Amino acid sequence: MSTVLMLENISKSFRDDHRNRHTVLSGVSLRLDAGEIVWLHGDSGSGKSTVLNIAGLLSTPDAGSVWVDGRDLTRAAPKIAARTRAGRIGMVFQSSNLLPELTALENVLLAARERPSRDQLLHELDRFGLTAVADRKAKKLSGGQQQRVAFCRAVFNRPAVLLADEPTSGLDPTNTELVLEALRSSAANGCGVLVASHDQIFEQVAHRELPMSEVLIEQV
Ligand SMILES: Nc1ncnc2c1ncn2[C@@H]1O[C@H](COP(=O)(O)OP(=O)(O)OP(=O)(O)O)[C@@H](O)[C@H]1O
Ligand SMILES: [Mg+2]
Repeated sequence: MSTVLMLENISKSFRDDHRNRHTVLSGVSLRLDAGEIVWLHGDSGSGKSTVLNIAGLLSTPDAGSVWVDGRDLTRAAPKIAARTRAGRIGMVFQSSNLLPELTALENVLLAARERPSRDQLLHELDRFGLTAVADRKAKKLSGGQQQRVAFCRAVFNRPAVLLADEPTSGLDPTNTELVLEALRSSAANGCGVLVASHDQIFEQVAHRELPMSEVLIEQV
């Protein structure tokens, strides 16, 4: 299987309000292959979202390199990073990040690379149990519905890499199962899935689990 994402020796620190630097990641390496689901877990504040943001080219590491689909994009120009994200990476954020004034369907449409038909969009929304709310504005959707729209948007373009940050938080068992099924089918179609979550349920779908304490020493 080909490697779709590689982080090599990543370090990242942030300044706090007193301008003191805090190291969040130090020497983090991980590899994600096509078709693989890797479950990243660890305590709150251990750096899971920071890893996903760096992998999704939304944040630049202080040191180390980020490879997506065989390309070193560590210091890619914003335009290249945006194009890679749009074409090759799907992201589900810890907060759903939908545009509140647009409907569920319009939020998915906005992320689509090629202009899909309404039927195609409805078909995709249906996979997540969202047909009935397709034309409802995002701000009027429940938290769980918003999360499923965000998930639908992330997988619509069949990305090479799917980065999902706590994608089931706030979902009931039925909707959690829909998301797990979507992760399975993304991976079955060759997508590499990196999911960060506290939820033990990912044990059911993960091919590999990666405690944050171990990404510090994993060899690539
Ligand atoms: N932009 C930022 N500026 C300053 N500190 C940050 C920033 N982003 C993250 N941090 C800090 O980095 C650490 C790791 O945060 P991160 O969000 O990656 O943790 P997490 O493992 O995803 O936690 P959770 O399980 O609560 O989502 C935290 O201490 C956080 O306060
Ligand atoms: Mg987080």
